Amino acid sequence: MSRIFVIHENAEWLPPFAEALDAEGVPWEEWCLVEGALDLDATPPEGVFYSRMSASSHTRGHTASKDYTRSVLSWLESHGRTVVNGRRVVELEMSKVDQHAALRAFGFDVPRTVAVVGRGLLKEKARAMALPFITKHNQGGKGLGVRRFENHGDFDDYVDGPDFEKPVDGITLLQEYVQPAAGYITRVEIVGGEFLYALTASVSAGFELCPADECVVDPDTGAGFDLCPVGDGPAGKLPEKGLFHWRRDFDYPIIDHYLDFCRLWGIGVAGFEFIETADGRLVTYDINTNTNYNSVVEGEAGRSGPAAVARHLAALARELDPDPGLRRAPAHLAPAGPTGT
Ligand SMILES: Nc1ncnc2c1ncn2[C@@H]1O[C@H](COP(=O)(O)OP(=O)(O)O)[C@@H](O)[C@H]1O
Ligand SMILES: [Mg+2]
Repeated sequence: MSRIFVIHENAEWLPPFAEALDAEGVPWEEWCLVEGALDLDATPPEGVFYSRMSASSHTRGHTASKDYTRSVLSWLESHGRTVVNGRRVVELEMSKVDQHAALRAFGFDVPRTVAVVGRGLLKEKARAMALPFITKHNQGGKGLGVRRFENHGDFDDYVDGPDFEKPVDGITLLQEYVQPAAGYITRVEIVGGEFLYALTASVSAGFELCPADECVVDPDTGAGFDLCPVGDGPAGKLPEKGLFHWRRDFDYPIIDHYLDFCRLWGIGVAGFEFIETADGRLVTYDINTNTNYNSVVEGEAGRSGPAAVARHLAALARELDPDPGLRRAPAHLAPAGPTGT
């Protein structure tokens, strides 16, 4: 069977996928793209490539990973390799502007957003935002730069003060604050063009939420804090127990819209986040193409994200290179059929 290559930059997030791929019995290896060299005259190995590049790679000191991944994916695709979450998709991962534009064009309700490049215009542009509003980094992940402001004076102080969080690509989003009617956001997990399950994340603990087991902080011990630092912003509060739960029997029509969107964009694996408002809006604000799965949620749902990903990748690998016993003999060796051809 063809080999599977997992492209990533954070070894902490790999074990559940390693286990699932091993259980699937597929040969696989990891390509950790932090530093390296790419021979553009070389031919990539045969196989199925799965990109798990993360928008927050720079927070782990891996500032070159984003562009390293862009380069490698361009090279792989130029050779016609099968890539799950490939070159186009990494742009969505890296830019909430790209996500917003794509979601809006597809007809999703999205939060009113202004992207401000640099620090100079932030205060002026914020004046046009209804209160409260939030900021977030264009290249985000794990809630980077997400803060809520109740008035413009506080925002001015933030922009001028030492706490201002500089976005890695220079782009800060000013965004409508969407009030979740029931105190949680919903995330819809999709693997291989199929709906896996939905989960809810309580908003009681602030904005910097990552469902990866490694990033969930134990409220009693604080364990896990260092892996997904909450920082010293207003979100610097430990989450309550049971922050993430399976959303039982979730069957909204928005699932099919997400699936159609994934088909259009060639997205193999993603988690879409939306907020339901009291007046009936369903506002989609985040697409995670480097999705991590939470074991509590998966226990409740009776489904496994890593297992579904591994199954999907293995199926693609089998398509590329079916079992030798099933392979058609080359035409010139084939015995003459009933028609004598
Ligand atoms: N427009 C919004 N209104 C209200 N809350 C929001 C909004 N956007 C994000 N949030 C909250 O902040 C969290 C992090 O924002 P998100 O856009 O998902 O960034 P990241 O990509 O870093 O996860 C969300 O899970 C949600 O709880
Ligand atoms: Mg998010």
